Amino acid sequence: MVQAVLAVDQGTTNSKAVLVAADGQVLATGSAPVGLSTPRPGWVEQDAEDLWQSVLRAISACLTPAAAGGAVDIVGIALSTQRESVVGWDAAGKPVGPVLGWQDVRTTSWCAQLPPTVDDLVRRRTGLRVDAMFSAPKMRWLLDRSDALVGTVDSWLIHRLTGGREHLTEAGNASRTLLYDLIALDWSDELLDAFGVPRGALPEVRVSDGGFGATSGVPGVRDGIPIVAVLADSHAAMYGQGCTRAGLVKATYGTGSSVMTPVEGFVESGCTLAWLTDRPVYALEGNIVSSGAALAWTADLLGLPDVGALTALAATVPSAEGVVLVPAFAGLGAPHWDREARAAVSGMSSSTTRAHVARAAVEAVAHQICDIADTIPGAVSSLRADGGATVSELLMQTQADLLGHRVEAADVPEISALGAAELAWTTLGETTDWAAKRTFRTFEPGPGAGDRGRRRAAWAQAVASVRVKRA
Ligand code: G3P
Repeated sequence: MVQAVLAVDQGTTNSKAVLVAADGQVLATGSAPVGLSTPRPGWVEQDAEDLWQSVLRAISACLTPAAAGGAVDIVGIALSTQRESVVGWDAAGKPVGPVLGWQDVRTTSWCAQLPPTVDDLVRRRTGLRVDAMFSAPKMRWLLDRSDALVGTVDSWLIHRLTGGREHLTEAGNASRTLLYDLIALDWSDELLDAFGVPRGALPEVRVSDGGFGATSGVPGVRDGIPIVAVLADSHAAMYGQGCTRAGLVKATYGTGSSVMTPVEGFVESGCTLAWLTDRPVYALEGNIVSSGAALAWTADLLGLPDVGALTALAATVPSAEGVVLVPAFAGLGAPHWDREARAAVSGMSSSTTRAHVARAAVEAVAHQICDIADTIPGAVSSLRADGGATVSELLMQTQADLLGHRVEAADVPEISALGAAELAWTTLGETTDWAAKRTFRTFEPGPGAGDRGRRRAAWAQAVASVRVKRA
């Protein structure tokens, strides 16, 4: 019987389950979509039961005999989860209110009335800044309406996977809440006070490979399988990409994007805890609010069936011919952090076609990654890319051209699940270095890099024109 880790990657739009052998081989995969609703502008909600059911459907699809291809002995569970989104549930494990998604900005004005001392405290303790994307203001919003236990998505899944026994979270996920002290490696009492979140409502924080209970009552999965390792999804991608030293940068192209690079020690700006095992590994991270979402929006606007059709249309023209799309639909994230900014398309003329607008959308995704890469101190040698949109050759080539560096796109679509699975197998005593064995699709800066300076300047000008908060 083949031994495998069952890795679950729960993201904003779908849940994936992957059976992974000790040598990193993917034995089976399953996935299931998860719903998302936007009941009011700026409100982005999910349903906690639906989210859990999508995980069960993904697991079930992965474990069908046809998918798994024979007898598999699951020796551990690994989790990779969307970050910052908040779930509340009562003592009986029943969800209380909606899941407030990471894109939800309903608490923007609440955040704005916090005194500057709170922002300063947040920077010093967490390396982040007060913003409605992070968990603490969302927790406050839920706790204002009910007496709930709260947690991020990892916490909710651990709770359900263990039959309601555990209320735990993983340190890297905790680092995205604005409540976790990255030096003390514990919830910060000062920050709990500042946001009005009682410690008793929060889960206990465990190290990433610290054990998170065992399965109980999960359909199709035997009881007693240990949940060995948990990572936040973007962090899991960095682990899976083998980006474990300075100079190696990864970008995940999801609904939004995350650009991350390991850094020696805590820094007060743009810092995150990548993972915590025998020691904390810190990373610099920039979050882009809208990247894959911008491609989907533009596809919809242009009446195209999907993002694949959009990138195909974009590839029919050699350039955007001066058209620039700034996808600030929910404001701008890193490095601009202006949530009041709004999206705009500029530079159009009477010869602009749908294809130019499509190309501008693809370029916007790449420009936003460059904006963050430009802020990373030291030399960036290459960018390791992962996530759904990396299938687009045009996007990857555009990225290399605008960055002026090599881009290496992972050859596996399940990199976050594999990152979590790799940590689980390492914890179980296996020697792993899967990234070293992995092949990449490599993109070098090409002729399109020739007018990089001009295109970057046009982008910077377009961003400046949509900003409300001045830099
Ligand atoms: O920070 C949000 C991020 O974790 C969401 O990831 O994969 O659902 O776009 P994804």
